[in-house]
Amino acid sequence: MSLGKIVSISQLVIRVRFDDDLPLLNELLEVSSPRRSKLLVSRIDLDNVAVCLNLDGDKSIQKHMEVKRLKGGIAVPTGPEAIGRVFNAFGQTIDGKPDVSGGSITYRNILDSPPLASNFNVKPVEILETGIKIIDFFTPFVKGTKIGIIGGAGVGKTVLVTELINNVAKKQTGLPFFTGIGERVREGHELLSTLIENDLLKETCMFYGQMNESPINRALVGYAATTLAEYFRDEHKKDILFFVDNMYRYIQAKNELSTILDQIPGEGGYEPTIFSDVKVLQDRLSSNDNGSITSVQSIYVPADDLSDPAVQMIQHEFDATIVLSRSIADKGIRPAVDLSMTTSSLLTPEVVGDRHYFLSLQVQEILEKYESLKSIIAIIGENELSVNDRIDYNKAKALIQNFTQNMFVMERSTDKKGEYFTIDQTLQSVEEIIA
Ligand SMILES: Nc1ncnc2c1ncn2[C@@H]1O[C@H](COP(=O)(O)OP(=O)(O)OP(=O)(O)O)[C@@H](O)[C@H]1O
Ligand SMILES: [Mg+2]
Repeated sequence: MSLGKIVSISQLVIRVRFDDDLPLLNELLEVSSPRRSKLLVSRIDLDNVAVCLNLDGDKSIQKHMEVKRLKGGIAVPTGPEAIGRVFNAFGQTIDGKPDVSGGSITYRNILDSPPLASNFNVKPVEILETGIKIIDFFTPFVKGTKIGIIGGAGVGKTVLVTELINNVAKKQTGLPFFTGIGERVREGHELLSTLIENDLLKETCMFYGQMNESPINRALVGYAATTLAEYFRDEHKKDILFFVDNMYRYIQAKNELSTILDQIPGEGGYEPTIFSDVKVLQDRLSSNDNGSITSVQSIYVPADDLSDPAVQMIQHEFDATIVLSRSIADKGIRPAVDLSMTTSSLLTPEVVGDRHYFLSLQVQEILEKYESLKSIIAIIGENELSVNDRIDYNKAKALIQNFTQNMFVMERSTDKKGEYFTIDQTLQSVEEIIA
């Protein structure tokens, strides 16, 4: 077996020349540095040079060092022992407990797409109650679908994702996964303590590649988590609840890698392969005949600009998008859902039933009227409205108030008890206002 030789080093990118026996794309290589650090082959250039990423950021790697092929890729341990553990992008445990071990553990390459999903027979629609009125009413949470929570900095994405984990994971409707990508380390710790307090950690699989980590970790951690989720879906026929905070950071990390790999940016300054990078990961987060993957993914909106190309593109992957907006958060309305931008393809009579569906049509009509009445009131004042308009205006205000709610995960900072509403309670509360 021939060895490669390092020909250049630039930041995290290391170029290795092989005379023959070229490595494969996404193969791991080992450098003969004291730490025996690993490289990941990201591209093969024409002159037999493997363009690699320095996975551990090992600074002791030098030009001319020898490099050995490992004939395998980054792999996560798969097996029931992985439940209750916290991993990084490389499948290493980071919870301070012993490595995942046991007879049933096997390893799966995180960048190998699994065999094509078998034909997905349409299963009866199963609605998962979240206990959050505004979500259950406007964006019903249906097993096997994807919900995006979209919003600018500090509008409440993390709080809403955490509340959903808290409310839905408790009910054991699926195996919960949480993937932290490029967000605050402190929030990762807080979520861990929340899960421990509620005795949920032992049933949850967690992956972290937070903002303190290199773009390599942040770009790969989603694949690592997805690989383990696919394993439980396919080998254990489990339904998976897959939570991500924040999927935009995956796109951003891919972008950073693209820059250091000297790719020329494409649309809106994003990397040229952004579309396929988003698609590959989203396609893997899907259901098949073995089991379902239901996902909730937060998306950061840079500079509150919803027309950002990455934000636009990823929205196409979701069955429902909950948009949180600053103007609503500033009014103190929580969750700060912007109903004029929030959409769901699942708010149909077939999915939610006639009662819920027709109620939602009436609510939408009242809320639309409210928007136009608001501008009239700004000019002529509320007293000049016709009796009917005034009734609808007040109904709209009552509805908006009705859809606010205290969160369990905020109890400690707000001193207000968290609230949970069954779907029936939510529908009833709306009916009472409209009647
Ligand atoms: N439902 C809520 N109830 C009460 N307070 C909230 C709620 N949602 C958000 N907040 C307040 O807003 C702050 C920011 O919320 P959060 O961290 O969820 O925002 P974010 O959208 O995740 O921000 P970033 O983009 O920075 O990650 C919280 O720390 C909390 O003080
Ligand atoms: Mg956040």
